[in-house]
Amino acid sequence: MPQLTPSNLQFNPFSLENTTDYKNWRDHKLSAYPRDIKSLIVSIKNPYQLTLPEKEKISTLCRQINFALYQIESDTPVAKAAIQTLAAQFGLCRLDHNLGADDEGITALQVVAEKPGQEYIPYTNRPINWHTDGYYNRPEQQIHAVILHCIRQAPDGGENKLLDHEIAYIHLRDHNPGYIAALMSMEVMTIPPNIEGEITLRSAQSGPVFSLEPGSGQLHMRYTARTKSIVWKSDAITKAALKCLTDFCHSDSPYIFEYLLAPNQGLICNNVLHTRNGFTDGESLAQQRLLYRLRFYDRI
Ligand SMILES: [Fe+2]
Repeated sequence: MPQLTPSNLQFNPFSLENTTDYKNWRDHKLSAYPRDIKSLIVSIKNPYQLTLPEKEKISTLCRQINFALYQIESDTPVAKAAIQTLAAQFGLCRLDHNLGADDEGITALQVVAEKPGQEYIPYTNRPINWHTDGYYNRPEQQIHAVILHCIRQAPDGGENKLLDHEIAYIHLRDHNPGYIAALMSMEVMTIPPNIEGEITLRSAQSGPVFSLEPGSGQLHMRYTARTKSIVWKSDAITKAALKCLTDFCHSDSPYIFEYLLAPNQGLICNNVLHTRNGFTDGESLAQQRLLYRLRFYDRI
């Protein structure tokens, strides 16, 4: 199966005119799709220096299904530098310094009582609906990869659901190629500006759900199932496409994986679709959920 690389751009499964390449790519992808979440967990001895088989396994999974789970073999929490070094071994270097991130660009996802950004659901224990990260970012700051690393679990809840965005693309295109055309429109999705008081923190952003990364030609997805703070194009085909996607996300499809990250486990992905279940922290610090999130402009 030819890989989609800059040197091989004549292979273009994402062109709606090119049904031959699409079918070949689709059939190849689905034929080898894993079903067992345990087969997606890669054990890592030293995050500062991966062995060749560890690196190979994570790379292969990310090529196949756009994500992998890892487990660092350590009884104590690893330092932030370990996660950054792990990321760099997959070419993930350009961190997005989003609101809420520390100086290095790492965001601590935990329940926060009072802090700028307290109105954002990630800093609460509430569930988060299907989305890709940074869907509100400017076009030149799209998030192509994400790492979620677990430091502490809550005693109850906090599971993530994961869905490879290429599988969502296949589902929509197989239903109606017109859905893909609608979701590739530059005006399909508009995020209103983020204004706090007199200050505009982010201007309004319009853009596509599906786009192709310039250079690599790889599929990129921006999406949120939130109905607040988002304006969708109101034509019939867009509505039908979004309904098809929502129905799929809420189905019992075997392509949707659910996993609860344990301490020293993490998700490394090409910004696939994901959710988070609500959770309940315990009394002691050890029972208060803490995940580090790293968002990158690079792709694995
Ligand atoms: Fe997210």
